[in-house]
Amino acid sequence: MILITGGAGYIGSHCALEFLNADEKIVIFDSLENGHIETINALKKIGNFDFVQGDLKNINDVEKLFKNYKIDTVIHFAGYIQVEESVKNPQKYFENNVGGTLNLLNSMVKYGVKKIVFSSTCAIYGEPEYIPLDENHKKNPVNPYGETKLEIEKQLAEYDEKYGIKSICLRYFNVAGADSETRIGEWHEPETHLIPNILNNKQTFKIFGNDYDTKDGTCVRDYVNVEDLVKAHKLACEYLKKENKSDCFNLGSEKGYSVKEVFDCAEKIIGRKIDYEIMPRREGDAVILLANSTKAKKILGWNNEKTLEESIKTAYLWYNYHS
Ligand SMILES: NC(=O)c1ccc[n+]([C@@H]2O[C@H](COP(=O)([O-])OP(=O)(O)OC[C@H]3O[C@@H](n4cnc5c(N)ncnc54)[C@H](O)[C@@H]3O)[C@@H](O)[C@H]2O)c1
Repeated sequence: MILITGGAGYIGSHCALEFLNADEKIVIFDSLENGHIETINALKKIGNFDFVQGDLKNINDVEKLFKNYKIDTVIHFAGYIQVEESVKNPQKYFENNVGGTLNLLNSMVKYGVKKIVFSSTCAIYGEPEYIPLDENHKKNPVNPYGETKLEIEKQLAEYDEKYGIKSICLRYFNVAGADSETRIGEWHEPETHLIPNILNNKQTFKIFGNDYDTKDGTCVRDYVNVEDLVKAHKLACEYLKKENKSDCFNLGSEKGYSVKEVFDCAEKIIGRKIDYEIMPRREGDAVILLANSTKAKKILGWNNEKTLEESIKTAYLWYNYHS
């Protein structure tokens, strides 16, 4: 049985959907602090699984989970994800992301669970020294959120050495889009990600900086479709089973789009003009983030197939359904 932590959240729920479609046995564990019971209910219409509400920070919740279920592999999405909040309150991020993961790892040791796939991020690299970013790029996170993820990667390496727990760290770039059948989608409160914020017409969209050294002066990012992304988790589980080896992989589309290009694409899909205003540059924003995902393609056999346009389309369908 596969344990999916954070499975009531955005990416975890899409991963659960992928595994349910493949008739895999899963159990979802989530505190529902930032995840949603509605998402769990939507998944329940697709397949059978148990949902356990609990907090990774609470060792009793975690131990009970491992006691009650025969878990073979963990896919670990649970964590706090807001960069700006992490700058204001680093302790909250270290306690939850690192502390919660240590409870998970210690229970894995206790219950003899040896395989884990971890949601890492390109934020562990910090300001790029070269583009596209490969897995060997220097790790120099520029915010506490990225630091917590790097610290977890270090702990995973330690737990491999000391206890033989094999881990795959998947370093996501900007994840976008929703289930193509609009059953689940991106649902963050507050929403800090670009595409849902463009689609949300409740307030004027803010572009932070239009004087960068890029094609149109706005920052460039790499958007990977969520349905493509979750397929890598399945491949990572298969890799762990077959190779029994720890490793890390960048997951991005390998295509860079400027904020203005994403904005223009969204306008085309929506079919009307969207208001925006130019704001000063935001501290800590890298100019360009772009993935080199050759390693994931070669070793895991992963492929990203969906375009930015498809991601924005599904995000828009979800936005209309959900709001
Ligand atoms: N969204 C992205 O673009 C992106 C990019 C890089 C990495 N990631 C990573 O992917 C993972 C999932 O991101 P997301 O966008 O789905 O976030 P999300 O907030 O939608 O999902 C995270 C889930 O974890 C749960 N959770 C948090 N702390 C918990 C705890 N202590 N115990 C139990 N449950 C807890 C939340 O309730 C939530 O449902 C995160 O680890 C994030 O750092 C996301």
